[in-house]
Amino acid sequence: METKIYKLDHHAIDHEIIEKAAAALRKGELVAFPTETVYGLGADALCPAAANKIYAAKGRPSDNPLIVHIARWQDLLYIAKDVPEEAEKLAEAFWPGPLTMIVNKNEKVPYETTGGMDTVAVRMPSHPVALALLQESGCLIAAPSANASGRPSPTMAEHVAEDLNERIPIILDGGEVGIGIESTIVDLTEEVPMILRPGYITGEMLEDVIGEVQMDPGLIAEDSAVKPKAPGMKYRHYAPKADLKIVDGAKDAVISAINALTKAQQEQNKRVGVIGTDETAALYGGDLILSMGSREDEDEIARHMYRILREFDESGVDVIYSESFATPRIGQAIMNRLLKAAGHQVLMAQQNNGGSEIV
Ligand code: TXA
Ligand code: MG
Repeated sequence: METKIYKLDHHAIDHEIIEKAAAALRKGELVAFPTETVYGLGADALCPAAANKIYAAKGRPSDNPLIVHIARWQDLLYIAKDVPEEAEKLAEAFWPGPLTMIVNKNEKVPYETTGGMDTVAVRMPSHPVALALLQESGCLIAAPSANASGRPSPTMAEHVAEDLNERIPIILDGGEVGIGIESTIVDLTEEVPMILRPGYITGEMLEDVIGEVQMDPGLIAEDSAVKPKAPGMKYRHYAPKADLKIVDGAKDAVISAINALTKAQQEQNKRVGVIGTDETAALYGGDLILSMGSREDEDEIARHMYRILREFDESGVDVIYSESFATPRIGQAIMNRLLKAAGHQVLMAQQNNGGSEIV
């Protein structure tokens, strides 16, 4: 199948293109489109055959449910069995925006969309192209991130094309996304609302609006027997081809530890990548050194992470050492994704008299 890529300027959206994409959605076809978080791969959420096409195109396990994107609050009432009062408060505070809420579904939502679950994930995106597509099609749009399963989420239309070229008919290219990390998921079907995936909207921001919120123990447990509640969080994900390790510790110890590790690998003829920041990149001696941006600007770090992981895949490095990014606000989401990409391999660097050591 030929994949058509249409460029859209979000300040002046070409309505003819949106109409074409909307018509495809209504016919049960797939359309990739930008959201403020990452690119999504959309299909009519209430049509089982259309939802099935998403799993086939991505190579996604069929028990991994999809997020239903909506443009109006009434659309949530249309597909939810009951709407907890927290949903209304959170929608008021954060929709349209990077927050997904899980509620009990009614019979209108097919099990193909929810991966067999009786709950449904719902989000109202704020990206003008996403909203235009929702409004024009009149569909509720099921959309996971528009990457092939197991690859980093796409933050540019080029990433979607890399993974899904000739597997989907239409990609709407709205340029690089603003946030770069997937939405926060909060489950409102629990007694106490629970964060199943950290994102741009932090636990503190949610608590300011609805009171106590807990974190899924499956996200923080070292013990791999404690499974995350969002099926998608249990899969190995966002994994670059090279062996990625995170080096944590004080700044100077990290820099000298990464340089020592790099040297040891290069002596064994391995090609080494390093993930640093604008403040540190010049201090490393690897084969490919990429900066996530300034440590002062955590939004920039979030926006660059997935593109950088993809660049390492292109470059053919064998090993990647990354600085740690437990920054104050969105840092929890950044580290959650980076730890998954690294298969939770973290080395602690400590300064000693001669230089540094891994402890
Ligand atoms: O920012 C985002 O959320 C992006 C854009 C496109 O909106 N979408 C996205 O979708 O990240 P996806 O499919 O890549 O991730 C959805 C996550 C998966 O981990 C899935 O298991 C979880 O949400 N999920 C969906 N429905 C669920 C449900 N009913 N219960 C628990 N987890 C659910
Ligand atoms: Mg995804």
